[in-house]
Amino acid sequence: MDKPRVFVTRRIQDVGIRLLEGAVDYSIWDSVDPPPREVLLERAKDVDGMLTMLSDRIDEEFLSNAPGIKVVSNYAVGFDNIDVPAATRHGVCVTNTPDVLTNATADVAFTLLLAAARRVLEANALLRSGEWTTWHPNLLLGRDIDGATLGIVGLGKIGQAVAKRALGFGMKVLYTGPNANPELEQRLGVERRTLDDLLVESDFVSLHCPLTKETRRLIGERELRMMKPTSILINASRGPVVDQSALVRALHEKWIWGAGLDVFDVEPVPLDDPILNAPNLTTLPHVGSATVRAREGMARKSAENLVAALQGRRPQHLVNPEVWENRKR
Ligand code: GLV
Ligand code: GLV
Repeated sequence: MDKPRVFVTRRIQDVGIRLLEGAVDYSIWDSVDPPPREVLLERAKDVDGMLTMLSDRIDEEFLSNAPGIKVVSNYAVGFDNIDVPAATRHGVCVTNTPDVLTNATADVAFTLLLAAARRVLEANALLRSGEWTTWHPNLLLGRDIDGATLGIVGLGKIGQAVAKRALGFGMKVLYTGPNANPELEQRLGVERRTLDDLLVESDFVSLHCPLTKETRRLIGERELRMMKPTSILINASRGPVVDQSALVRALHEKWIWGAGLDVFDVEPVPLDDPILNAPNLTTLPHVGSATVRAREGMARKSAENLVAALQGRRPQHLVNPEVWENRKR
């Protein structure tokens, strides 16, 4: 029997490639840049499965061009690049890679929090500009972490990992999200609030929700104006959870004190985007999961999910289990 055919949209870590070897007949888009849309649509026509990145858009057009596809395995925990209802209609399994990147991503959120609070990028630029002339009592004063309140929007795995870090730094932790979790509140020592109350009470607000219809532009002008003028917004989830143009105004007009972003509306963020000229902004180029161990875990899990689905075994991290249940009937 012919092996299932698979297209991998970027070179992933060898641990993932080794799992594909022997199990499937694969080809790789061997470039740091994503495959152009035409290539993705062309390859869709004759594959049984695809291993995709968060920069590959998997939508109705793609799916209706892919008559033989059984699985789209995303090398990411987020899957907002995939139209999951459309995949479900087409009977296509969608999988993701949770757990392996939880701590790495929480570390980046906390890095942004500390760096924004202590003005690390600005301080580095000052030093290198030659304008560091003396130690003085008012040079680069930042915000305190110990005793400050952190509001976490979305207390999933990454949100919980951020809460642990914050508690270790002496912060009080609030959270908001669709589900109350009294057991978790007890165990971690965190308190639930409505989003509005969390915004009003927090010194730092960190976003850890998935991007969905409900969370798109969750933080807009109204919400930013509710935050303290001394507060800092951190986003290591997805750019569109924040109304980026409202954030630009919030920073210029000092509705809030600062922001730390790992993610943007459009990525890579264009260099002439007004967000990059906003004051008190600490930025990173979407590197939340960029550690050797997290990326190896993502390569392994994405390959395992893909191979399982193509060999008729239920993938460990299936986003749309309905597809699997219907197939069994
Ligand atoms: C990264 O942003 C991911 O969703 O894995
Ligand atoms: C600062 O460097 C201090 O010693 O207080």
